[in-house]
Amino acid sequence: MNKTYKIGCVILAAGEGTRMKSSLPKVLFDVCGKTIIEHVIESVSKLDYLYRIYIVIGHKSEEVKQILISSHIYNKVKNKIIFVEQKKLLGSGDAVKQVQKHVDKNIKHLLVLSGDVPLISDSTLDELVNTHLTSGVDCTILSCIMDNPYGYGRIVRDLSKNVTEIVEEIDATEKQRSIKEVNAGIYVFKLPQLWQALAKIKPDNKKNEYYLTDTIKFVDTKNAVVCKNPHEVKGVNNRKDLYEITEIVRKKIIEQFMINGVSVIMPDTIFIDYYTEIGSDTTVLPGSIITKSKIGSNCKIGPYTILENVEVDSDTEIVYSYVQSANIGKNCKIGPLSRIRPQTKIFDNVSIGNFVEIKNSTIYNNTKINHLSYVGDAVVNEYVNIGAGSITCNFDGIKKHRTVIGKKVFIGSNVNLIAPINIGDNVVIAAGSTVTKDVPSNTFVIARAKEVHKINHRIVKRLFYSTSGEDDER
Ligand code: UD1
Ligand code: MG
Repeated sequence: MNKTYKIGCVILAAGEGTRMKSSLPKVLFDVCGKTIIEHVIESVSKLDYLYRIYIVIGHKSEEVKQILISSHIYNKVKNKIIFVEQKKLLGSGDAVKQVQKHVDKNIKHLLVLSGDVPLISDSTLDELVNTHLTSGVDCTILSCIMDNPYGYGRIVRDLSKNVTEIVEEIDATEKQRSIKEVNAGIYVFKLPQLWQALAKIKPDNKKNEYYLTDTIKFVDTKNAVVCKNPHEVKGVNNRKDLYEITEIVRKKIIEQFMINGVSVIMPDTIFIDYYTEIGSDTTVLPGSIITKSKIGSNCKIGPYTILENVEVDSDTEIVYSYVQSANIGKNCKIGPLSRIRPQTKIFDNVSIGNFVEIKNSTIYNNTKINHLSYVGDAVVNEYVNIGAGSITCNFDGIKKHRTVIGKKVFIGSNVNLIAPINIGDNVVIAAGSTVTKDVPSNTFVIARAKEVHKINHRIVKRLFYSTSGEDDER
């Protein structure tokens, strides 16, 4: 790298992305946990010699800017980033023009790339910059040979194989469309040659846009470097492109987990995002979706389990369940069909069973809530057993109230705990009780209507002996 030059970078992100048919700006679409533009910035951020990064925004510029500012990658490069607004979306050439008045005088070369090419690697960008600097040409284009070049600009070369121009699909002749070398939308330009060429381009094409690609005709010396990996230069223009790119990234993430000692069964049915970590000897079973989560070793996740922003310690099993923003300890058994909602912390050796919903609660070690329960806004201490169908009644129609259950409490089936309520340690609550008052430690509670047995009652007679039963005791 010749350090005497200052090199800047332009990322084009002002376009509307019409072909996505969406109210969301194209560069904000998600690819495995990061927006398309974050992927681009991440690669660019690794080129630490870049002096400035100009991001051109236009369509829903405030939304794009705010999302970028709140992204992980922004902090790493925020001192280099300058947002430039393109007020009218007149094409990629016009977008680059907007940068001219902001560019630092010391910058002698500009790396220009589209915000919709998320898989471009820093090593390919670095190679492009190096080739450009060594060759000394006015513009170096990144190109790629594609089996199906449809939709991309084609690199036109003369008989001596020198690049002459780039022709867009829509404007190309039949013959030009058969060219398989495409423009990746990534270039390095010398300054001020780029500004001079931009001043010459006109919107005389089928889209009536100022094409950045038309500058190629107006620079004296140019070259194209062929990228060996077509995946890297794949642009996202419609939802099919987005699917194809997401698939590439999804597979890469899963393969990396496999290499790191995680078993992934039927990987084509599994989605794991960039921000998830999984320890070795954990198995992820079919139909599971795991995002922004940290899972320990020797766990079993799935089948059919969704974990969003969840921390799971080692040796825990989560089967057929939905868990959001929760913390789960070691050696727990969750599911099948449990729902663990946000702000829940579950400690070690806990068992949460089928059709159990836990919300905003802390469940301490060795507690079992195995069937058909709702526990909300509660603290459940160690060695508690909550019987089938028992619930915390936390909502009075206006406010939510807390329930605190002490250690070694045994709660029978179908118990209603009317919050706010505190249950002491070593308490036994009989099945079917509705408990409304605090219970001190070492207490047996029974709170159900007195049971009545009526022998030979008229209902029995009418049903089983066909008599009116009118004279009988009611
Ligand atoms: C562009 C190239 C094409 C190349 C392809 C690679 C042009 C004219 N064509 O086509 O040769 O093969 O990328 O992916 O550049 N943008 C703005 N402001 C605008 C218009 C676009 O900032 O007024 C931005 C978009 O947000 C996008 C980039 O420029 O990031 C490229 O625009 P897009 O519409 O995606 O061009 P392609 O048709 O993909
Ligand atoms: Mg594009």
